[in-house]
Amino acid sequence: DWTPNAFIEETVEDLKTKLGNDKVVLGLSGGVDSSVAAMLLHKAIGKNLYCIFVNNGLLRKNEFSDVLEQYKGMGLNVKGVDASARFLDALKDESDPEKKRKAIGRVFIEVFDDEAHLIEDVKWLAQGTIYPDVIESVSATGGPSATIKSHHNVGGLPDFMKLKVVEPLKELFKDEVRRVGASMGMDKNLLGRHPFPGPGLAIRILGDVTAEKVRILQEVDAIFINGLKQAGLYDKVWQAGAMLLPVNSVGVMGDERTYEKCVALRAVESTDGMTADWVNLPYEFLQKTSNDIINKVKGVNRVVYDISSKPPATIEWE
Ligand code: XMP
Repeated sequence: DWTPNAFIEETVEDLKTKLGNDKVVLGLSGGVDSSVAAMLLHKAIGKNLYCIFVNNGLLRKNEFSDVLEQYKGMGLNVKGVDASARFLDALKDESDPEKKRKAIGRVFIEVFDDEAHLIEDVKWLAQGTIYPDVIESVSATGGPSATIKSHHNVGGLPDFMKLKVVEPLKELFKDEVRRVGASMGMDKNLLGRHPFPGPGLAIRILGDVTAEKVRILQEVDAIFINGLKQAGLYDKVWQAGAMLLPVNSVGVMGDERTYEKCVALRAVESTDGMTADWVNLPYEFLQKTSNDIINKVKGVNRVVYDISSKPPATIEWE
C-alpha cells in the first residue's frame, strides 16, 4: 500500500544517493507540485538545492512577495527574480493567444537560463512534473515545466535544459502529491491552492496586455478569490478566476454616463482540468461580489458570470 511517509523516506534516500554533493536548480511557481518537489529535495540535499522563483508580472495580487516569504519560511534556498518589465515588454501590442503564450515561454526560459548560469557548477535541473503531465500535453499545474514543454528553440537548447533532469514526483497523482506535502508539514493554504496557468493573467486579459490592465484584473481577481475564501466556497471550487474582456459597455454613475470595462467571473468543478462544469455559486455571493468589484475597482462597470462547461468551452478564455 502506498503511504506518503514511506514515499518520502524512500525518495529522500534515492535523491541522496543519486545527487550526492551535486548542485540542483529548480524553478518554483508557487503551485503545489514545484513546492512539494522542492521540499523533498531540500530534505535530501539542503542548501545544494537552488530554487528560483520568477515574477513574470502576471501573477495574482501580492502573490510574488507573499509566496516568496512563505518559501523562505520553509527554509528553502530561494531567489526571487522580478522580471515583470521584461515580460510586459515582450507582450507589447500582442493580441494573439498563442503568440502571447510563446512570448511568455521564451522570456521565462531566457530569465531562468540567466539565473541558472549564476549558480557555479550546477549539475541538475529538478522539475515538479507529476504523472498526468507525463501523459498529457497541457499541464494544469501552471509550473515552469509546462512553460518549457511548449517552447521551440531554433538555436538549440538553452544551457539549463542540457542539465541532467531529476523529477521526484513523476509517478504521483495530484492527490498523492498533496498528501506528501501535508506529511511534510506544508502549509494548508499552499497545498489547497487552485491551479493557476503558467502564462498567468496574460491569458485572462483578452487581447493585448498592459500594466494597467494587469493591475485592474489583479484587483478584480483578489476580490473574487478572497470572497470565495470568506464565504467558505474556495475549497469547494476546483479553479476560479476573472477575465478582463476587450469590450467597453455603457453604464451610469450618479448623473454621469460611463463607458468602461466588463469582467467575467469563472468558477469550475473538475478533477483534472480535462473536463469541467461551471459552479452554481449562490446568487447572494455573486451579488455581493459584483457590487464589491464595481464599487472598488475603477474602470469596471459590469460583471458577468460564465455559465459554460468544458467541453466545448475551455476553462481559460484564451
Ligand atoms: P483550458 O483552458 O485548456 O485549461 O481548459 C485547462 C487547465 O490548464 C490550465 N492552462 C494552462 N496551464 N500553461 C499552463 O501552465 C498554459 O498555457 C495553460 N493554459 C491553460 C488552465 O488554467 C486549467 O487549469
